[in-house]
Amino acid sequence: MLGKILSALLYVLPAYVANATPVPFAKILKKTTPIDGGRSAWDGRRILGDGKSWEGLFSGIAGGTLIGVILYLAGNLGRFRSISEPMILSVGAMIGDIFGSFIKRRIGLERGELAPGLDQLGFLIIALIVSAAIYGVPDWFDPMIFACILIITVILHLSTNFIAYLLKLKDRPY
Ligand code: CTP
Ligand code: MG
Repeated sequence: MLGKILSALLYVLPAYVANATPVPFAKILKKTTPIDGGRSAWDGRRILGDGKSWEGLFSGIAGGTLIGVILYLAGNLGRFRSISEPMILSVGAMIGDIFGSFIKRRIGLERGELAPGLDQLGFLIIALIVSAAIYGVPDWFDPMIFACILIITVILHLSTNFIAYLLKLKDRPY
């Protein structure tokens, strides 16, 4: 059980790193380019908002891919089915994160407002769907392990965001 959870965590690590990298990267850059180009949707609200930038997107894909390739070269610790899988997981995570912001804006939440569940799990679920669509269901997968991974992800997401807030990388503690 613990071994399977550890394998699953190593497998999803590229998605975690992809999701986390844009926070310090955007902070260092200070000025970033919004993916939606500042445009609004049919409802008058921003399509995605300033929290989704090209710089963040590319840094996330690069960071997640890099950590995954390191795991792959270190004896395939993530048990990826291909050396490309970390990149697929990272791209999936960024798609999920962007899609989450799209949903948040449509329901009227401003950039940075809390969307419980969506903020912590949207990126991971889409990353897993995208990788499963390409490579099939990973071997660690079973409903119990999946449930554990979701719970661990929520805890890790909230705690790392709180640390980022203490480090002044984020304006809000969640
Ligand atoms: N970020 C970025 N580009 C991305 C994703 C994230 O520049 N594609 C940076 C932004 O500085 C963003 C921060 O990482 O503010 C935190 O990301 P996130 O919590 O996803 O964004 P929020 O600002 O909370 O915006 P939203 O409400 O749209 O989730
Ligand atoms: Mg947020």
